[in-house]
Amino acid sequence: MNQNFCRPFLLFTAMLLTAITLVPFPAHSAGHKPRVVVLATGGTIAGSGASETTTVGYKAAVFSVDHILRSVPSLKELADVRGEQIFQIASENITPAHWLTLSRRVNALLADKEVHGVVVTHGTDTMEETAYFLHLTVHSDKPVVLVGSMRPGTAISADGPINLYNAVALAASPSGAGRGVMVVMNDRISSAREVTKTNTFTADTFKTHDLGELGYLQAGKPYFYRMPVRRHTSNSIFSVDNRESLPAVEILLGYGGSGREQIDRAVAAGVKGIVFAGTGNGSLSVGALAGLSAAAAKGVAVVRASRVGSGIVTHNADIADDTLGFCTSDNLLPQKARILLMLGLTVTGAPDRLQNLFDSY
Ligand code: DGL
Repeated sequence: MNQNFCRPFLLFTAMLLTAITLVPFPAHSAGHKPRVVVLATGGTIAGSGASETTTVGYKAAVFSVDHILRSVPSLKELADVRGEQIFQIASENITPAHWLTLSRRVNALLADKEVHGVVVTHGTDTMEETAYFLHLTVHSDKPVVLVGSMRPGTAISADGPINLYNAVALAASPSGAGRGVMVVMNDRISSAREVTKTNTFTADTFKTHDLGELGYLQAGKPYFYRMPVRRHTSNSIFSVDNRESLPAVEILLGYGGSGREQIDRAVAAGVKGIVFAGTGNGSLSVGALAGLSAAAAKGVAVVRASRVGSGIVTHNADIADDTLGFCTSDNLLPQKARILLMLGLTVTGAPDRLQNLFDSY
């Protein structure tokens, strides 16, 4: 082959090979669907009622993950869906031990390069807590989506099937990555940190008070408008590896006439932390202040939160938190502050270091 032809041909070939190797091929080729694993834990989405009009008074945690997946044949258009029955409980019975097991399983699944995302089907009563625990302990940027339903699958206009379809669509979507753990209910995509159940029985029960949802799902397509700001998932320091339990943290409530009795009882029971859901801006009665000050002096971690549902609990304003060794929950709901404090106590007991966690997660 003459020299004049050979050199340009070799250069072109080298450039073509470089281009092919640099193109980031998707985790799956166009024909191969992304793999989504559905971890079923129970709840209403697996529930069964006596008739098609039974939307309350049904039995939760009845149907298997296979039954749930079969009830939405269109899932296979979205992803290569695999199901695992990790628990079968009504979510009021979820415990920190369940959270540890679930988080370890999610981390193990997401470490598999073949797995694109994970969906967790869950009862709605404590879904916001499980979601936040995973938000702080799953170390992956892949999508993790919690989903449930307010009506059992046996009821007319059950919301479970469309919620599950949406959740799998999000977990299969590239745009679901890097946003922390999400909750999908009623066509809305919410962040685990702020979302909460606000109504005892309606399908639109999950809300994110002031700060709004991350986005929507419409016809199986996610639309995002926000990103979480606080630390989560890959940017979290918390690990559940080799941990069989978590420090005991109680949530106590402030109300007209609340004193120190409930606080003293919790301390006597050996709690490691107390989240006190005070009135207004985390206000404390004279008795509650005395009880919490005594608790902190004994080394119990104290976090002032608020029962009102939104807003910041102001540090060192009406109460000398730093002097008393108290933390404040920022805008975390009490049930979320408890989870952050439980995990925080696995790394430190120092009030100033715990406060840094509430200021950054
Ligand atoms: N027992 C409740 C639970 O499992 C039912 C509520 C629901 O799942 O929507 O959370």
